[in-house]
Amino acid sequence: METMIGQDIQLARELLVQGELVAVPTETVYGLAGNAFNEAAVLKIFEAKNRPAFNPLIVHAGSYEQLMSLAARVPAKAEKLMRRFMPGPFTLLLPKKTIIPDLVTAGSDLVALRVPDHPLTSALLQTLDFPLAAPSANPFGYISPTTARHVYEGLQGKIPYILDGGPCTVGLESTILGFDEEDHPVLYRSGGVPAEELEAVLGETVQRVAHNLQREPVTAGQLKSHYAPHKPLYLGDIPFLLQRFSDQSPVLITFRQRYPGLEDSRQYVLSEQGSLQEAARNLFTVLRMLDGLDAGVIIAERVPDTGLGRAINDRLERAQAENK
Ligand code: TXA
Ligand code: MG
Repeated sequence: METMIGQDIQLARELLVQGELVAVPTETVYGLAGNAFNEAAVLKIFEAKNRPAFNPLIVHAGSYEQLMSLAARVPAKAEKLMRRFMPGPFTLLLPKKTIIPDLVTAGSDLVALRVPDHPLTSALLQTLDFPLAAPSANPFGYISPTTARHVYEGLQGKIPYILDGGPCTVGLESTILGFDEEDHPVLYRSGGVPAEELEAVLGETVQRVAHNLQREPVTAGQLKSHYAPHKPLYLGDIPFLLQRFSDQSPVLITFRQRYPGLEDSRQYVLSEQGSLQEAARNLFTVLRMLDGLDAGVIIAERVPDTGLGRAINDRLERAQAENK
């Protein structure tokens, strides 16, 4: 199959209506989209990504009103968050209606729901009378794509079309929030909306789900090996790690400064201004780029652990976990 790249919303629409897959831009990362009501299309998503079918998919719609029609129950807190953060880098886990195939949720009674904030994909969703199931548009276990080119590198030959909406403005996946039995909010994945902002709107603490406490059903965003580059990545104190790996041609990912003792061309600064937004936007592109360089190891430092910084550190930790 030849994979085309373009900005043709009508073509994207036709393919999706026929049950084909289209990679679509969002503000977080590119998604690999198919008709969420069509099981054959959903199966193609798992196939193209090489993703285990026990791993559920996020369902995307054009407005939060449309999303509400897919949920069997919307707690008052959820509606409050929808009004505030949708469209945006925010996903809610809610009880599903039966129109959502079990294949989409991997058998769970909960469905992950999101309204992406990207002009092309919003326009596309307006032309469809079904929502789009879409995981990140990367082969399973690899770094999420933040440009059409990244998608092409991973999925060429496996999907007919990539809708090119330019580089993603947030650059990290959406925050995923659900509720426990008493409707207390639970964070399943840190992402584009910092937990602090959710807490400010809710007026209560959001419970974090720790990786090592995870129970079934597993959220793959919680699998430690996710977001992994192919080269080993070590996270920690840069001068110490530089010394430890001096004989393995290291490359660096730093937050805002360069370090002495290594050529500038082997150091990538996520944000010289110290902006977490800019760092988030750059992270996946940098991981991919450094992966392609002639280097034995990638050495990285944590960014400040507040706001978006938590999601950045989370992705760096998972990238590191792959080789531990
Ligand atoms: O920003 C994003 O969320 C991007 C864009 C494309 O929307 N999507 C994305 O999808 O990151 P994906 O499939 O790569 O990650 C979604 C995560 C997975 O870890 C999945 O296990 C979890 O959401 N998830 C989806 N539905 C779920 C469900 N019903 N119950 C528990 N976890 C669920
Ligand atoms: Mg993913």
